[in-house]
Amino acid sequence: MRILVTGGAGFIGSNFVRFVVREHPAYQITNLDKLTYAGNLENLEGVTQRFVRGDICDAPLLAGLLAEHDAVVNFAAESHVDRSILDSAAFFETNVRGTYVLLEAARRTPVSRFLHVSTDEVYGSMAPDQFATEDSPLRPSSPYAASKAAAEMLAMSYAHTYRLPLIITRASNNYGPYQFPEKFIPLMVTNALEHKRLPVYGDGMQQRDWLHVEDHCRALDMVLHHGQPGEVYNIGCGTPRGNLEVLEALLKLVDRPSSLLEHVTDRPGHDRRYALNCDKLTNSLGWQPQESFETGLGQTVEWYKTHADWVGRVKAGAYRDYYDRHYQRRDETLAAFGKT
Ligand code: NAD
Ligand code: TYD
Repeated sequence: MRILVTGGAGFIGSNFVRFVVREHPAYQITNLDKLTYAGNLENLEGVTQRFVRGDICDAPLLAGLLAEHDAVVNFAAESHVDRSILDSAAFFETNVRGTYVLLEAARRTPVSRFLHVSTDEVYGSMAPDQFATEDSPLRPSSPYAASKAAAEMLAMSYAHTYRLPLIITRASNNYGPYQFPEKFIPLMVTNALEHKRLPVYGDGMQQRDWLHVEDHCRALDMVLHHGQPGEVYNIGCGTPRGNLEVLEALLKLVDRPSSLLEHVTDRPGHDRRYALNCDKLTNSLGWQPQESFETGLGQTVEWYKTHADWVGRVKAGAYRDYYDRHYQRRDETLAAFGKT
């Protein structure tokens, strides 16, 4: 199989490229990535793949690339909710228009599979004890989630109208190696290792259904090969955990005191709970998560400990400006956006 992976220099994309190279050594992979602040070729050091620096909004580039591939796996996106609250322009450009350009290219130059990687955030916040199935309504609440839901709608319309062999996956919050330290787990792990405060949004009782990135990649691989075109598959563990509960486990692993926790002004419009029912994936393709959260978190902490150079480089430069704006001057920044 010749697979065009978009966004393969980011967190999940780079783990997926590694996974495919390991599990299917005969496959050819082209990694198309714009290398935004979140894209990092260091994530793929030692991995043989063809890399093309480019934008999924570039129609002529995509036309040429699609002619050389059998399948597309679309990870390319702006992916951080907090950044979408500060400025959502790039989210709609890449996540919606980029997906549109990619779909148009696939309509003109057919591929045998188009796997569009989406998120459980399209369902919006779940009530206590409620788990989203693939048929639950889409009620995105952040600009990020709205851009992902819009992309899904467009993608499904292409599957329906043009018979594009398209499959959508909706995964829960991922964690694991190479995750950019603006997201909850790597931000907290790296801060704790540096004895820095851990900024807890609001009361910290929000819940997320943590999925190890390796389990996600295995599910994507199964769906790519055996999924039904036109279908949507949830990917998660079905065991939502509170943010404070996660932080407690993390502080134990890094041997730091709970005095590092600092409750800060909540994220505007913060979704309280994400939770997925993944029976469809389990019953139809036999997928189940293999990593327990406890061991997965332990391994992730170890990875960040042993990759201090990677962390140091990623946290330099533009990251510092973001951190300063979003955390050191949090109230001022949110007030400037009319949110407090
Ligand atoms: P990430 O931010 O780590 O990586 C995104 C990658 O896309 C980067 O390498 C970036 O350079 C690239 N990119 C951005 N705009 C591009 C463009 N216009 N053209 C080409 N490349 C571009 O994101 P991630 O956490 O790895 O997420 C990957 C995908 O999985 C996203 O579609 C996201 O919505 C989805 N997802 C993420 C999670 C999660 O917990 N991280 C959960 C469910 C779904
Ligand atoms: P995040 O990793 O941004 O993912 P999501 O897209 O699900 O919001 O955040 C996960 C949870 O952690 C979410 O409830 C927000 C919370 N959070 C904090 O409390 N502090 C932080 O600094 C960050 C980045 C997130």
